[in-house]
Amino acid sequence: MSICDRLRRGVTTASAGETQALARELAAVLPPDIVLALHGTLGVGKTTFVQGLAQGFGVTEPVTSPTFNLLSLHRGGVRLLAHLDAYRLDDGAQVESLMIDDFLVSPWCLAVEWPEKIAAWVPADAWHLDLGIAADGRHTLRRR
Ligand SMILES: Nc1ncnc2c1ncn2[C@@H]1O[C@H](COP(=O)(O)OP(=O)(O)OP(=O)(O)O)[C@@H](O)[C@H]1O
Ligand SMILES: [Mg+2]
Repeated sequence: MSICDRLRRGVTTASAGETQALARELAAVLPPDIVLALHGTLGVGKTTFVQGLAQGFGVTEPVTSPTFNLLSLHRGGVRLLAHLDAYRLDDGAQVESLMIDDFLVSPWCLAVEWPEKIAAWVPADAWHLDLGIAADGRHTLRRR
């Protein structure tokens, strides 16, 4: 089954490495110039997933939690990865002030943690992934 079909059905991972491998696979098939909205609570694996995306895009520098940065840009050999943590943003005006559009050079992927904080700003063609943790402690990922 393709990675897209698997994500539609819902995938379970038993380690951070497995989540990254999944993200690496997705990175290879994502449409160009896409916003990826990563939903899920604290510690569910959003940043871990973005690390896998980065590997897939050929980013060599480390990807960390952008909580104190808001926005990090990583230029990979395959495409530009923009990583936004919206946790501390309240509304569209704040995200507009980051002028993200000005930094996005095609082909790009903008991965957003806490997208519900800026729901009105997230474009209609964004892909939404729900991350969670199952009762057995494994992590779950599903595309809406
Ligand atoms: N199957 C798994 N998938 C992803 N992460 C896992 C898994 N199993 C264990 N982990 C661990 O869970 C933690 C997930 O942390 P991560 O920073 O990615 O979460 P986050 O959703 O970005 O949190 P925050 O909301 O604080 O930004 C990491 O320490 C990772 O190693
Ligand atoms: Mg995070």
